[in-house]
Amino acid sequence: MKILTVVGARPQFIKAAVVSRAIAKYNKEASDRENIEELLVHTGQHYDANMSDVFFQEMQIPKPSYHLGIGGGTHGTMTGRMLEALEWLLVKEKPDLVMVYGDTNSTLAGALAAAKLHIPVAHVEAGLRSFNMNMPEEINRILTDRISSWLFCPTETAVKNLEQEGATQWPGVRVCNVGDVMYDAALFYRERAKPGSVVASLLNQYQDGFYLATVHRQENTDDVNRLRNIMTALDEIAERVPVIMPLHPRTRKYVREAGFHLQNICCIQPVGYFDMICLLNQCRAVFTDSGGVQKEAYFFHKPCITMRDETEWVELVEHGYNLLVGADRDKIIEAEQHFFAKVIDFSDNLYGNGKAGEKVVKLLMS
Ligand code: UD1
Ligand code: UDP
Repeated sequence: MKILTVVGARPQFIKAAVVSRAIAKYNKEASDRENIEELLVHTGQHYDANMSDVFFQEMQIPKPSYHLGIGGGTHGTMTGRMLEALEWLLVKEKPDLVMVYGDTNSTLAGALAAAKLHIPVAHVEAGLRSFNMNMPEEINRILTDRISSWLFCPTETAVKNLEQEGATQWPGVRVCNVGDVMYDAALFYRERAKPGSVVASLLNQYQDGFYLATVHRQENTDDVNRLRNIMTALDEIAERVPVIMPLHPRTRKYVREAGFHLQNICCIQPVGYFDMICLLNQCRAVFTDSGGVQKEAYFFHKPCITMRDETEWVELVEHGYNLLVGADRDKIIEAEQHFFAKVIDFSDNLYGNGKAGEKVVKLLMS
């Protein structure tokens, strides 16, 4: 069994690391069974060392067999260039299956290149829907799910979304709830994560408590009013409680272009996954628009204010772990005072049992 895995963006390195480790475990245990050969392809969508290399080093992900070097540019250009390069590679390597993760342009390009060549596609993190077709991620998810053969869902809600679209009736398609591979990652790496020097010194400086914030979604960064609302609210909050914000390069660019003067937020460069785990573990609460960070807040039992109008991780909102506030300055400030003051019981288990990666491999080989 030859699997070609396509990754390209920060969250995909984390997700793929989980399944690659499960593949290695399967191979080790499988002396009398067919082995899995995995070829890793990095599209190059994220390319700065702190957006890419750091994850490979920390999580001991093998060096990709191919690096396509395709980063930056518009959605169409990026996806089109990836499609062309991946098609060539798939013809050359002839894998039995292509594995894709999440909802980025690399996900869609990998799935589309494979499907056109009649190579089965496995989509990990299938079935999520925000029902907002203005989001590039929503387009990528829906199209990827429609052309995949294996739809590995992280939650029952994701399964239901796919059922509603008829996916359980599509010929040759299997819909399986395996749990969330990011939960596997959090459980596995939380024991191993040590902070680097910058984060270690911040953790020392802010021992009395701090909030962790991330903002990078296109709907927030590319709209100057939304970005201003979010940044001014967080800057005001940071007058009272320190706010540490590892700044995505997309956000840094727009903050600089808009000329915002952030007086109080502690903006740092994007950090590696280990730093992030340490920040999540020690913060009081989280502000974010990230999909992954919303869940990680829950994994680390921290309340989360999500600066989006909707979320695909609806169970977090329904169970009261997460509050959606959009990009409304007043709502963000009000939520910090009231929502974060609540005592929340984090005893539910919403994202599986930490064995999602192993379940994916087992199902593929069944
Ligand atoms: C992408 C995903 C988004 C995901 C995010 C994870 C799509 C459509 N979006 O968004 O779903 O949440 O990754 O972080 O695929 N840049 C750098 N250095 C880098 C990477 C990016 O400077 O290493 C800058 C470039 O100016 C680039 C911009 O950030 O044009 C946006 O990068 P891109 O990969 O297009 O989208 P993300 O916002 O990272
Ligand atoms: N992350 C990280 N360093 C950062 C910001 C985020 O390691 O500076 C991790 C985060 O902990 C999570 C993943 O990157 O595991 C989420 O990626 P991101 O927020 O970029 O994308 P999304 O999940 O929204 O697609």
